[in-house]
Amino acid sequence: MKTKAFIIILFTSTTIFSQKFEGLAKTPPMGWNSWNKFACQVDEKLIRETADAMVSSGMKDAGYQYINIDDCWQGKRDSLGFIHPDPERFPSGMKNLADYIHSKGLKFGIYSDAGWKTCGGRAGSRGYEFQDAMTYARWGVDYLKYDWCNTEGLNAEGAYLTMREALYSAGRPIVFSICEWGGNKPWDWGKSIGHLWRTTGDISNCFDCIVDHGSWKSWGVMQILDMQEGLRVHAGPDHWNDPDMMEVGNGMTNNEDRAHFSMWCMLSAPLIAGNDLRNMSESVTNILTNKKVIAVNQDKLGIQAFKHSAEDSLEVWYKPLSDNEWAVCFLNRSTTPKSFEYIWKQKQIEDNFSSRELNVKDIEYNILDLWINNNLGTTNNNLSYEIPAHDVLMVRLIPIP
Ligand code: GLA
Repeated sequence: MKTKAFIIILFTSTTIFSQKFEGLAKTPPMGWNSWNKFACQVDEKLIRETADAMVSSGMKDAGYQYINIDDCWQGKRDSLGFIHPDPERFPSGMKNLADYIHSKGLKFGIYSDAGWKTCGGRAGSRGYEFQDAMTYARWGVDYLKYDWCNTEGLNAEGAYLTMREALYSAGRPIVFSICEWGGNKPWDWGKSIGHLWRTTGDISNCFDCIVDHGSWKSWGVMQILDMQEGLRVHAGPDHWNDPDMMEVGNGMTNNEDRAHFSMWCMLSAPLIAGNDLRNMSESVTNILTNKKVIAVNQDKLGIQAFKHSAEDSLEVWYKPLSDNEWAVCFLNRSTTPKSFEYIWKQKQIEDNFSSRELNVKDIEYNILDLWINNNLGTTNNNLSYEIPAHDVLMVRLIPIP
């Protein structure tokens, strides 16, 4: 009798602690995160104003949902081990802030680290995973980014699994963002643990550069793009490759911002803005809220683009979409404009991974320019075009019935 009861308890507890919350990120998550622009300078005023701006700028209407506080929100643990926010920066407390964000129809995200300390030296979750998860659930957190600093000796998959179980047992559905930087190949094990995983180290606000910080480097948009090679087969609805938060609006040119945003949409990347939403130029707002480009990112098939060709700094990327449509992005990586003539009739394309084909022999497709919202003819004709430096032409191909 005793053994039976024990087996039942064991069975129940493993059932409870054995999965991620499914279905929270059927399309790539969209939101904002404080780190790229504000680093450690976060407080409740900034977060509230950002939530306001997400609504007033039209970003919420375009699909953005999450307001995520990155590192440095933490104060101290109390004598029972519970974490509290920095009382000077967040005097009203996290529950209050979460309520405010929710009252705007938005969702609330927070940050912690699998190690003893976060990258910014605040308290990490190591040893407190279940207690922290319970605290986040009480506060009304909807999204957790979980970093990988100060984890010497830890097994990555195991550490993220522990937090997944902690979140699940706390009972509140929370998107779990694995921020391990790619070193332990999270694409091989992340699917059952989290909803997205970083594939690289940190992004930097430059189009094509490497920033050397001594013991580590951060990467320009093109460098991060190149590191996505081979990873598309691992991504899909509810489990995304994360090439890091965006730098749109953080100092690149308008053309570069547009190219960066377009490529993140092609990659089915999480669209987490990283700029100051309270002070956006009209051109930055227009980039971040372009619904036709966002629709490529949010397409329900969830298939990441692939690079079809790269010649003389001009890359052509293809992304299969639902209803047999395709997104195609011509990316000019060079510092001078590029003219080209594209002969669609020679581009019969098969994507073995998704079992989709672009059948230009039998089907004529309309070509819609997604940035200018202009029809560029059909695939029965050649396309002549000039793309400015560090910019894109991004189109949608729509079969003509
Ligand atoms: C790491 C992460 C960044 C950011 C910082 C915070 O570098 O990769 O995205 O969260 O830590 O300290």
